[in-house]
Amino acid sequence: MEQSRTVLGIDVGGSGIKGAPVDLRRGELVEERLRIDTPPGAEPDAVAEVVARIVSHFGHVGGPVGCTFPAVILGGVVRTAANVSEAWIGTDAAALFAAATDREIVVLNDADAAGRAEVRFGVGRDHPRGVLLMLTLGTGIGSALFVDGRLVPNTELGHVSLGDETVEERAAASVRKEKDLSWPAWAARLSEAINAIDALVWPDVVVLGGGVSRKAEKFVPLLDVRPTLATAVLRNEAGIVGAALAAHEHHRA
Ligand code: BGC
Repeated sequence: MEQSRTVLGIDVGGSGIKGAPVDLRRGELVEERLRIDTPPGAEPDAVAEVVARIVSHFGHVGGPVGCTFPAVILGGVVRTAANVSEAWIGTDAAALFAAATDREIVVLNDADAAGRAEVRFGVGRDHPRGVLLMLTLGTGIGSALFVDGRLVPNTELGHVSLGDETVEERAAASVRKEKDLSWPAWAARLSEAINAIDALVWPDVVVLGGGVSRKAEKFVPLLDVRPTLATAVLRNEAGIVGAALAAHEHHRA
């Protein structure tokens, strides 16, 4: 095995854009991460400028850079815009970020990145076989589906219908805050959401991630669902780690 395998990972989110070099032997950040507020409106050029600032801050880390984005990404191109500016639809994010940074950039969906990190370095190691679904609970609800450890990219299970709403409109972590829901009230919504998704994909394990997973003890015991539940262990760093992993593997392929 190579001695050093450090790759820069960047996680583009609705409120912040965070990056750090990741040691891919251990799945850990090797330097303090840099976080910059997402520019208001999160328009493509403004986001690319922030990505470039993060890349230049960690200019000593060579090689390809991995970058998450909260949308469906096909071949580096953004195809949806649920929680970001519509201007992104059809934008080749990989090309835009490469032009802004003068580096090779691999772009993937944020939940797919978080899931890849969990599968490789986190709770996924306890569940190497079967169907594992990672749900990221944040501004929206992201999903990443794995079969025997292999990702089925760009599942958008946060957009499954739930009555008049979608799963993410009803049960995202942001909804708990906006509506000032109690933990039991939000847990009831999240159970409904997981059950609606379960009826479609019947996962063996559901891994709950996103910032709110730090408070897992407040809501996980209240969930009434069929699949085995697990809490993400990489927490806020999963996106950065998964982005770096994707860049490294893409480069090697
Ligand atoms: C987007 C997904 C994303 C999720 C979490 C959803 O609204 O459609 O692509 O993974 O939010 O950010």
